[in-house]
Amino acid sequence: PLRRLRSARAERLVAAATAVGAGAVVVATALVRDGAVLAAQRTRPPALAGRWELAGGRVEAGEAEEDAVVRECREELGCAVSPTGRVGTDLLIDAGVLRVHAAVLVDGSAPTALEHAGLRWVGPAELEAVDWVDADRAVLPDLRALLGPS
Ligand code: C5P
Repeated sequence: PLRRLRSARAERLVAAATAVGAGAVVVATALVRDGAVLAAQRTRPPALAGRWELAGGRVEAGEAEEDAVVRECREELGCAVSPTGRVGTDLLIDAGVLRVHAAVLVDGSAPTALEHAGLRWVGPAELEAVDWVDADRAVLPDLRALLGPS
């Protein structure tokens, strides 16, 4: 019940912030396959190029977060995914708020780096060593829990 309340309150705060142009909702995808999560290497901006992230992007006006996850994975990774639930808590980033959603590949679909410099599947033992962008690093404890023991 506490989580629900906090989440509803966060929802209102984000809605209010977005209404005054203070920020966007950005979704990131914890795409899981065979006990590993997909990391994607950024190409931009120069300050973030070379660092790794969970693929994602801004939620469009009127778009459900899960639909944004599916769209961003199609656009950036050329693959079909099915979201399976939220991971971790809301994270404040410069652009607004970042929300991570777990997802699995739809049968037969495989990711390609269409907009990233490269992709890698990261198992629980390798999570810490990846040069994640700051916001995504904050999700590591939740990703570890999602992936289970190494
Ligand atoms: O990828 P894009 O530049 O559209 O992302 C919008 C914002 O969300 C950027 O500020 C980016 O750094 C941030 N972001 C993030 N972690 C992700 C995806 C995006 O911090 N996994």
